[in-house]
Amino acid sequence: MPTTAILGLQWGDEGKGKLVDSISARQDFCVRFQGGGNAGHTVYPEGKKIVLHHLPTGVLHKDCINLMAQGMVMDPFKLIDEIAEVEGRGLKLDERLFISDRIAVTIPLHLTLDMDRESGNEANRVGTTKRGIGPTYADRYDRIGVRMADLLDETSLREALQRAVNVRACQTDGNAPGVDSMIKPLLEAGKKLKRYVADTSLLLAEAIKEDKRVLFEGAQGALLDVVQGTYPFVTSSHTTGAGIPAGVGLALKVEDAIGVTKAYCTRVGEGPFPTELTDDTGHKLREAGGEYGATTGRPRRCGWIDLFALRYVCRISGITRLAITKLDVLSGFGELKVGVGYEGHNQPGLPADIRAFSALKPKYESLPGWNDDISKVRKAADLPATARSYLRYLEEFVEVPIGIISVGPEREASFETNGAPRD
Ligand code: GDP
Ligand code: IMO
Ligand code: MG
Repeated sequence: MPTTAILGLQWGDEGKGKLVDSISARQDFCVRFQGGGNAGHTVYPEGKKIVLHHLPTGVLHKDCINLMAQGMVMDPFKLIDEIAEVEGRGLKLDERLFISDRIAVTIPLHLTLDMDRESGNEANRVGTTKRGIGPTYADRYDRIGVRMADLLDETSLREALQRAVNVRACQTDGNAPGVDSMIKPLLEAGKKLKRYVADTSLLLAEAIKEDKRVLFEGAQGALLDVVQGTYPFVTSSHTTGAGIPAGVGLALKVEDAIGVTKAYCTRVGEGPFPTELTDDTGHKLREAGGEYGATTGRPRRCGWIDLFALRYVCRISGITRLAITKLDVLSGFGELKVGVGYEGHNQPGLPADIRAFSALKPKYESLPGWNDDISKVRKAADLPATARSYLRYLEEFVEVPIGIISVGPEREASFETNGAPRD
């Protein structure tokens, strides 16, 4: 069976959760491989909204097994609440949710460090979700992190917490949580999570050997990748397809890598966004698209789609098909613009230097829009002619075929297509 991935191609919130929900009905396994509670994946199973942060979206399908792999970070207290919310909907997770014993655990100290930095000197801010993501990953790579296995053994946990507190002492003002205040609640959380703990790379290796259908669910988006994105205004994990093997601890190859992009573009938090619109059109996009953060509620910055950036990230992420979401939101905009490059920028890639990236001035192509409500359309051929030509332009520029089109937040409001619709 082919392995499939759903990966964000912009700065997150492309509608990954919605697509994973549609596709995971046909999957045996759904696997998160990076990120943690910073993700907010909105889904409407049976019309009732739920936002998933840590849990793979496959939990919403009774026959799908869900792995939280070792490349993730996990806040045990938040995860316990999330499990309760999903189980409260009658979806039992025993034997269906497995958490890697090596997953990096966010401890209260990480939340303090994240919040202190975000509320301190403006020059040091990233505009994070304040979920402790950066400090948790930093501690993993500094080899002072706490892992899921530590939550199951008091001596290991005490040693791990002490190491983190000792090494980070120089970054805190003495009011940061200490070992004694953290250890008891973390051990309690460990007891609650114990039944889900497993060696998930081994489980995955067995699943692939048995030819199971496996779907990898990306969080964030390629432009938030810790190395490839708009550094330092990025998250702290590898969000592209390249992050999958290391994130699951298995040297595998993804056959069907579906890259998700909105038909326009959004971003939350600080950092450059060349095609951002701060005028009435940007405002109209935010209201028409309901562009407010699923995790933090912050208004999302909005702008036109940046096809140059999209083409670049498709190459590095190994994307085989595009999924275009929120096409319905562009109804009634009259003329549409698409970013096709930047003035004076003659390189095929994006600049690594943040000052150079921030200075990019987009070049646009204008395309005719449409006024019809397309939210009930269920096949590509039924889209208005101008919507079809918008998709063709996009596909030809990016050089990756369109495989899925989404026209609404509901489960059924998306359909497959074999490339952009031809006339
Ligand atoms: P994710 O983080 O990539 O899963 O995306 P979010 O859930 O953060 O944000 C996407 C938002 O757009 C959610 O509110 C979805 O319900 C909504 N959505 C997804 N696809 C579509 C679509 O095709 N049309 C419209 N109008 N909304 C959509
Ligand atoms: P999903 O999976 C959009 C952004 C934050 C901030 C930067 C770093 O829903 O697409 P972090 O808390 O990760 O240290 O914040 O990354 N960010 C997201 N933006 N969607 C997300 O996830 C995001 N996760 C993090 O706003 O700019
Ligand atoms: Mg989101």
